[in-house]
Amino acid sequence: MNLKKLTFFTALLFSSTLFAKNIPIQKAALVGDRIVEFIPAGFDKSKTPSLILKEEPLAKGSVPRNWKLRPTFTINDNKAAAYINLPAGISLYGGGEVTGPLLRNGKTIKLWNTDSGAYSVEEGKRLYQSHPWVMGVRQDGTAFGIIFDSSWKAELQTESNQIQFRTEGALFRTYIIDRESPQAVLKGLAELIGTIEMPPLWSLGYHQCRFSYLTEQRVREVADTFRSKKIPCDVIWMDIDYMDGYRVFTFHPKNYPNPTALNKDLHQKGFKTVYMIDPGVMVDKNYGIYNSGSASNVWVKNNDGSDYTGKAWPGDCTFPDFTNPQARNWWSGLYKDFLAKGIDGVWNDVNEPAINDNHLPESQRTGTMPTSIIHKGGGDLPAGPHLLYHNAYGRLMVEASRKGIIDANPNKRPFLLTRSNLLGGQRYAATWTGDNLASWDHLKLSVPMSITLGLSGQPFNGPDIGGFLENTSGELWANWLGFGVFMPFARGHACAGTNDKEPWAYGEEIERSSRIALERRYRLLPYLYTQFYNTSKTGLPVMAPVFFADAKDLKLRNEEQAFLMGENVLVIPAFAKNPALPAGIWEDLSLVEGDMTDKYQAKLKIKGGSIIPAGKIIQNTTERSFDPLTLLVCPNKKGSAEGQLYIDAGDGWGFKTGDYSLLSFNAKRVGNTVNIKLASKAGKRDAYKEIQKINAEVLINGKVYRGSGSLKSGIQVSLAK
Ligand code: NOJ
Repeated sequence: MNLKKLTFFTALLFSSTLFAKNIPIQKAALVGDRIVEFIPAGFDKSKTPSLILKEEPLAKGSVPRNWKLRPTFTINDNKAAAYINLPAGISLYGGGEVTGPLLRNGKTIKLWNTDSGAYSVEEGKRLYQSHPWVMGVRQDGTAFGIIFDSSWKAELQTESNQIQFRTEGALFRTYIIDRESPQAVLKGLAELIGTIEMPPLWSLGYHQCRFSYLTEQRVREVADTFRSKKIPCDVIWMDIDYMDGYRVFTFHPKNYPNPTALNKDLHQKGFKTVYMIDPGVMVDKNYGIYNSGSASNVWVKNNDGSDYTGKAWPGDCTFPDFTNPQARNWWSGLYKDFLAKGIDGVWNDVNEPAINDNHLPESQRTGTMPTSIIHKGGGDLPAGPHLLYHNAYGRLMVEASRKGIIDANPNKRPFLLTRSNLLGGQRYAATWTGDNLASWDHLKLSVPMSITLGLSGQPFNGPDIGGFLENTSGELWANWLGFGVFMPFARGHACAGTNDKEPWAYGEEIERSSRIALERRYRLLPYLYTQFYNTSKTGLPVMAPVFFADAKDLKLRNEEQAFLMGENVLVIPAFAKNPALPAGIWEDLSLVEGDMTDKYQAKLKIKGGSIIPAGKIIQNTTERSFDPLTLLVCPNKKGSAEGQLYIDAGDGWGFKTGDYSLLSFNAKRVGNTVNIKLASKAGKRDAYKEIQKINAEVLINGKVYRGSGSLKSGIQVSLAK
């Protein structure tokens, strides 16, 4: 850059800070246990509605006297910002869906949901979701979190001495949680933005996807191969090609002539199906959905009142204005007939919304709607420009989709996956990390990416295992699956034009390794399901950073190869080099024959003091998994251990009225015997009937001691030999 340019930019920077006006804080109030709401003077909810919080927080008192963290609000040229000064030595995390490292000090995230195919692993790339949220962990392990409650286009900059949130819109509220640990802060986040609802058990199984399985014959073939090769799998996914000319809510007459029969047959084999629905509706006067949307006046409008159209898969499309309650209702209503074909789950894709404007000169391309478009709003939401609503478009879409899915099947738990979302949107849909690449860089990146989503309120997430774009080698696949099976959402996916990426596509060795990996996931399903129960109650992540084991151990703060599954299982991927591991007892854990010697499998370790519930190897979740139940017991220094198992019907809402069982186990070593017993039980479900037999494996100093018993009798394991 030449000197002239440099002076120009310095002047620009100087003038923008110079002209920024400080806005006083009009109100600061306690709205929860050590959660403070800061409202700037002149804040106007009709300019910045909250699309993030689960409900309006209620003032519960005044700000504690020793409260330190406070935002400074500014406004410059109608663009609001907030700055929060930090003391030295804070480790920063969060920011949602981001590339780059787990530790977020010194990063800038652009919050403008963007279709970012083949995103590079480098910093600063815009991705599909926006999470205006930062968590800081102090050296002593205490922590704080900050929500900037705005969906306006923004940048979030996390300098070590200051957090900056600069928007292109109106003033907004800021919430600061300051508590004794990062876990306590995440619970505070959940108090403000809610948690996920308990998903159906089948959605925790393995998912097999491809863009696309082009015909139903191919789908049947893939499903049958899983069963004949005895590789566990629960779900087969239909990407866009099942549709008729990419018209949403239709089926290709030749390639998917009878979806009802297809779904029924798959159900009989123990599979569930998920089908894609995009937001763009093809402009086609012979297409019922388009005509119905036009008649109901649901489309996003240009400022001259005409329908906005943009290009998506089918060509020219209109887009529902999801800010409007009538449009959301109309959209919800579309799912009834669709799901009646026996469809189990829905995938909302390209809902940033991504618009193909490659026909425009490069300088005019934005990849989405013009920012000046005014959305209609309604109900609690004001009319407002796309600049305000863009980052909430996907989140509003999945709110409508979720409602439609529940209305259609009120007795089932919905499963919905979304590409775009906003902080708080975990209430409506699970997510995946979009169009990654079949590369080692992306394999490694998938760990901090998924952890960071979990640290930002979205526990139900995972990457395209194996990598979406480009061909995948057997080595890459097996390495990725070897740890991907311990991520909350486990789905293999592949882009059109790439090689087959099913577990058997790479030859016998990789097939064997894939089977071991998936059998390990299925054995751990009782534990995983219990973690989902926990997150649905508390918001704590299912996949957590290693430093959660000891927030005071500074060596762990940037560990991003290994991760924790819940609190008690440590996962060390095969690629990990010298990972920083927590101190204390962590015993190696074997779940499946051959898993300790297969070079592609992640190493698993169980924490001293814990009991992990495991099930049998099953091929899918329609099989009963936990009779016999296995309790994996790793005593702490004092010889004791504890752990929980949550069980319910696996679907439906009975658990809300008591049809569940939460079993707490404990173990105590007395001399050369470890006594394991049921310590307490909550819920009305008859666990005694469901779990007839329990096998226990006690892990001490690299040795495994076995015993068996029942819920009633408990289990005594002898350490004598
Ligand atoms: C983009 C999504 O990110 C990808 O997963 C999907 O396969 C394609 N759209 C085609 O629908």
